[in-house]
Amino acid sequence: MSRSAAVNVKIDHDDKVYAWSDAAKAKIEAQIKKYPPERKASAVIPLLKLAQDEFDGWLPVGLMNLVADTLEMPKIRVYEVATFYDMFYTEPVGKHVVRVCTNVSCMIRGAEKVIEAVQKEVGLDKPGTSADGLITVESFECLGACCEAPMMMVGEHYHVNLTPERAVGIVKNIKAGKAPVEPSK
Ligand code: FES
Repeated sequence: MSRSAAVNVKIDHDDKVYAWSDAAKAKIEAQIKKYPPERKASAVIPLLKLAQDEFDGWLPVGLMNLVADTLEMPKIRVYEVATFYDMFYTEPVGKHVVRVCTNVSCMIRGAEKVIEAVQKEVGLDKPGTSADGLITVESFECLGACCEAPMMMVGEHYHVNLTPERAVGIVKNIKAGKAPVEPSK
């Protein structure tokens, strides 16, 4: 999904020097092979995803530059892609990202109470990242599961038909170092 035009996206730096692991290099080679040699920039999205997953869950400028150098493409074009798609983070985020949909269908079915409960459990009074850097809570536009509203996304997994209590149970599991699922009854 792309970001709405109203979202003000920043890009951030850190002090690290980035280099691919051998495992990442093999995956990169496999991605690049999918395209003609003169079109290897077409692999920018899978490489950005790989970079984000391989390192700290977000894309500092140095890491985006590594992707640009790997694909021999202008750095600005990599920044453009990374800031357009909402699956990429160009500022630091917590180890776990909880996206609570607050768009119309979810709002009508109680999303406000869900996000309030999640924020409270994380120690926040608005969307942001917990003091220990473990969890980022985001208020999100429609995530495409309106028929099962209200919902939230944790990492790449959807949790639907939520109540505040069930959402908090999922967050408690994350805080306990368990899988981001509902506690078993
Ligand atoms: S409005 Fe929440 S998933 Fe569509």
